Amino acid sequence: MQYVEAHGARIPQIGLGTMTLKEDVCVQAVKTALQVGYTHLDTAAFYGNEKEVGEGLRASGVARDKVFICTKVRENNLLPDLFQKSLDQSLANLQLPYVDLLLIHWNNKDIPFSVSIPSLCKAKTDGKAKHIGVANFTTKMLDDAWAVTTEPLVCNQIEMHPFINQDKVVAASKKHGMAVVAYVPIARGKVPGAEALERIGKAHGKSSAQVSLRYLVQLGAVPIPRTATPDHLKANIDVFDFNLSDAEMAELKKLNATNMRVVNPPHAPVWDTP
Ligand SMILES: NC(=O)c1ccc[n+]([C@@H]2O[C@H](COP(=O)([O-])OP(=O)(O)OC[C@H]3O[C@@H](n4cnc5c(N)ncnc54)[C@H](OP(=O)(O)O)[C@@H]3O)[C@@H](O)[C@H]2O)c1
Repeated sequence: MQYVEAHGARIPQIGLGTMTLKEDVCVQAVKTALQVGYTHLDTAAFYGNEKEVGEGLRASGVARDKVFICTKVRENNLLPDLFQKSLDQSLANLQLPYVDLLLIHWNNKDIPFSVSIPSLCKAKTDGKAKHIGVANFTTKMLDDAWAVTTEPLVCNQIEMHPFINQDKVVAASKKHGMAVVAYVPIARGKVPGAEALERIGKAHGKSSAQVSLRYLVQLGAVPIPRTATPDHLKANIDVFDFNLSDAEMAELKKLNATNMRVVNPPHAPVWDTP
């Protein structure tokens, strides 16, 4: 496993996304993932599966301190009391005293950063999160959050795959020394079947999904693909033994001209335009 380092955090460069994984499917996916070599799990209060993620961790037999666990506080829980309750409930669900990374899942435009960011910082100073960060922040939101934070924000978790242009927000994240965690890295199933990715994969003896993940790894991002299929679990961490050429990277980069956004809920911010 490779790592991306940011502000003292050492983040395994592939994580297991767990959104939509429920009940025993989630327990088994987490257990199998850890047993085949994953060391990074991504969950959220909103996913309703933190209990199962914790159960999968314990069932795997892998030591807690070998695993990097991220959870998130959602946008309707960003006032101080609610934030604290949400985090405490997440830790109780996971049956853990701390997570490795705690994120604001989505900003709430009605709550200023001067209110939400101190709660995030407190999670770190209280020892309930080793590191803190944000998700779905735009370039302006990053600047505004950094202006008030008293602890480093180690990552921005954003939608990233070959079909979306995130150049501006990636540059802004890097300007602040933050890691970029790439969610929806297989474009929620739109990667398999895409001609260029299939063709490039064939040339390397890899699948189109592996090409998408490798592309993101070579861009320096941390993809967190989701799957409960054992073969896909193995395939999605088997992306460190081949290299995409400069020409292949350039061809894949051109696919972002479509700027296809998969995740865009009503509470999303006004995104940066390419
Ligand atoms: N911060 C945020 O706001 C936010 C938003 C969305 C997602 N996320 C995080 O990002 C994670 C990933 O996003 P996502 O789950 O929406 O989408 P994704 O990982 O891009 O796509 C998941 C889909 O890809 C398929 N897949 C996975 N590996 C494959 C492979 N090797 N070959 C072919 N198909 C494969 C899965 O099917 P199978 O199960 O059949 O393999 C599933 O249908 C989430 O689970 C969550 O942890 C965060």
